[in-house]
Amino acid sequence: MTQAPVNVTVTGAAGQIGYALLFRIASGQLLGQDTPVKLRLLEIPQAVKAAEGTALELEDGAFPLLSGIDIFDDAKQAFAGVNVALLVGARPRTKGMERGDLLEANGGIFKPQGEAINAGAADDVKVLVVGNPANTNALIAQSHAPDVPADRFTAMTRLDHNRAVAQLAKKLGVAVADVKKLTIWGNHSATQYPDIFHAEVGGKNAAEAVGDQSWIADEFIPRVAKRGAEIIEARGASSAASAANAAIDHVYDWVNGTAEGDWVSMGIPSDGSYGVPEGLISSFPVTTKDGKYEIVQGLDIDAFSRERIDASVRELSEERDAVKQLGLV
Ligand code: NAD
Ligand code: LMR
Repeated sequence: MTQAPVNVTVTGAAGQIGYALLFRIASGQLLGQDTPVKLRLLEIPQAVKAAEGTALELEDGAFPLLSGIDIFDDAKQAFAGVNVALLVGARPRTKGMERGDLLEANGGIFKPQGEAINAGAADDVKVLVVGNPANTNALIAQSHAPDVPADRFTAMTRLDHNRAVAQLAKKLGVAVADVKKLTIWGNHSATQYPDIFHAEVGGKNAAEAVGDQSWIADEFIPRVAKRGAEIIEARGASSAASAANAAIDHVYDWVNGTAEGDWVSMGIPSDGSYGVPEGLISSFPVTTKDGKYEIVQGLDIDAFSRERIDASVRELSEERDAVKQLGLV
């Protein structure tokens, strides 16, 4: 092992995604099999004991790449020297809570975390926000970290991407590995738009291979967009292992690069591409190389897709307006 350990901070470490995520990070799946990691876990004081329990189990895993675990209930300490920040911990929506209440509650979490990243993160820090509403929480954190390049703040739409790939592969009776160039546009919410018009299956256009516009509009899109609710209904809890898996995929690809002839979906600050207002953290098709991502340019967007992208982006603008009014960005 030649490399110095990479500091990976995970917030909400004692939660259900945390439990599914930490062992995979420790085993090398986040960054690669040559990269040792040091885990820095952030929890609220009441959950520190549970995080300590998870740390005992991590120790018992005897992971060769895991070079240390520290547990904090203070964001400034947890993000000191961080290279990869996984912001998972968030306030879930509870009965009677309106969207504005949720945004306000999460502002109380993502504002200080953004400030702590600004104060102490390593120069190469990469941030992935998983906690919902992920895109807008990422915007809040980013706006409190003015010294960190804005493009280091990303939000997770990879779970949606993976869900869409799996549904399309199932429909066409092909392997998931045969599906390329699928895109999630917009918000990680029910307005997201999973786009298969540029996707390829075995080298052929996926929408043509499906050949049934009503399946795309009435089954595929709502199935993917509402999959989170379907999981909650079925298991009585929101997705955890699949969310952790998507976080692993998001960071692994960001760090190690996407495959030739394919792309992935990431929630990233818009540069105005595809008519998405600059600065909104919206999902785009991206390729990655040498730790940087680039939006795939030049895709034709027809009226069907335009309408759906616009609807999701409109929701993101409304969320941004709401957190602006609350003084959170
Ligand atoms: P969970 O309730 O099991 O765990 C959340 C953890 O966060 C808890 O242990 C809690 O103590 C901790 N926490 C709360 N405030 C914190 C703070 N200020 N600092 C540090 N830790 C804090 O929830 P979960 O199932 O692990 O899900 C976490 C979040 O991820 C939720 O917001 C969920 O909606 C979201 N999620 C997003 C996606 C996605 O695709 N983007 C997918 C699944 C879940
Ligand atoms: C998901 O997509 O599974 C999560 O964001 C949970 C949810 O509330 O949908």
